[in-house]
Amino acid sequence: MPELKIAPSILNADLANLSSECKKLFAAGADIMHLDVMDGHFVPNLTFGHPVVESLRKELGPDAYLDVHLMVSKPRMWIKDYKKAGASAFTFHLEAVEGVDEAVDIVQEIGREGMLAGVAIKPKTPVAPLLEVMQKCQKNQIPVTNALVMTVEPGFGGQKFMGDMMSKVSAIREQYPECDVQVDGGVGIGNIDLCYKAGANSIVAGSAIIKSENWAETITSMRKKCEE
Ligand code: DX5
Ligand code: ZN
Repeated sequence: MPELKIAPSILNADLANLSSECKKLFAAGADIMHLDVMDGHFVPNLTFGHPVVESLRKELGPDAYLDVHLMVSKPRMWIKDYKKAGASAFTFHLEAVEGVDEAVDIVQEIGREGMLAGVAIKPKTPVAPLLEVMQKCQKNQIPVTNALVMTVEPGFGGQKFMGDMMSKVSAIREQYPECDVQVDGGVGIGNIDLCYKAGANSIVAGSAIIKSENWAETITSMRKKCEE
């Protein structure tokens, strides 16, 4: 399994000072900055788009891992814009595309543009179609870097973690020992070990980090929980 990566979601950060918030999070030990893009259509909430990612890239420098999670209805139309903006990774929802074959094409397009590709599923989506996308990609040597299992309904930070999603995590991990398996939603010190044991190595955590008193201590405790 790839190394543990802590990916704070900045959804509940001070958005008026986003770049300094991201700098503080990296200084506190974050590996990845998880940027939640919402369009008010695929999910009932609205956040920001590629211009914000572009500004962050300028502020954070070339080495920052900017992981864009697109909760939007037509992810394909934004691939080039996010590449230009400087996104490191582009994760789209399987529910937002026509089906498995289109998803495979989109993964390929993301890779061709030079970004890491991720595919996400919402809690009500079974893991089978995601595995099918991954199998087809593998067969055609198209790299899928990130398989994202949502552990809340996408749209808002601060919701309750759905532990029953762990069987999806394990199913992906069993077949793909090298891939990043990411969990997103309601994860914190109290349940990160469950996620890690199930096979997730890329851990998105918003409120658990942002609302804590000491971000560095929280991130360190999260890592320790996985080592226990
Ligand atoms: C939900 C987002 C998540 C979420 C994480 O739609 O994709 O990234 O904001 O926040 P917490 O950890 O607070 O659930
Ligand atoms: Zn997210």
